[in-house]
Amino acid sequence: MASTKVYRQRTEFIAELLEKQFPPRRIRGLEIGVYKGDFSHYLLHRVPRLYMTMVDPYLQYDEFKKRWSNRSWNALYARVCFKMALLKGRAVLLRMTSEEAAALYDGGFDFVFIDALHDYPHVKQDLELWEPRVAKGGIVSGHDYSMAPDAGGGGVIQAVDEYAAKIGVTPKFGADTVWYWIKE
Ligand SMILES: C[S@@+](CC[C@H](N)C(=O)[O-])C[C@H]1O[C@@H](n2cnc3c(N)ncnc32)[C@H](O)[C@@H]1O
Repeated sequence: MASTKVYRQRTEFIAELLEKQFPPRRIRGLEIGVYKGDFSHYLLHRVPRLYMTMVDPYLQYDEFKKRWSNRSWNALYARVCFKMALLKGRAVLLRMTSEEAAALYDGGFDFVFIDALHDYPHVKQDLELWEPRVAKGGIVSGHDYSMAPDAGGGGVIQAVDEYAAKIGVTPKFGADTVWYWIKE
């Protein structure tokens, strides 16, 4: 993650977008790839009418945090559960992969933030799984639209550009490599 200042800019950018885009009603959001939970935690405090579903398998795997054992992932999962429990039912944390979670939902999300594995095939898959599950007028977004190695070396850019072209939208960009569009 970049500096705390940049991180706040990113979450604040999304918070303002949510408030602007939706009338004063409940907002149903989804984060794919949660890690420490800071992104959703900030948004849930900042936007009281936001309800978040958060998806992360918290498992050891090759592409991210190679040296972490499953014990470390278990400990992180427990910490994020505790943090989210204080939000009184506005946060649901699912310990499973994006693919597994997609089997549980038909749609109805107002907002999705894709920030799990950043290589091209996974970002493509996450777009294919979740963009159709966002309601019209909702926000489709994600992180790391960048050529940096930890952004899949351009994998996010390729997947986002390709998917956007396929459905005929032009991606927009916000603070700290955030990409997004409003679903028509
Ligand atoms: C870059 S971090 C997420 C950062 C978080 N969104 C934030 O803003 O602080 C990537 C996360 O994706 C998770 N992840 C890996 N594979 C995944 C999958 N198949 N589905 C969902 N999440 C996955 C990892 O466990 C890791 O916690």
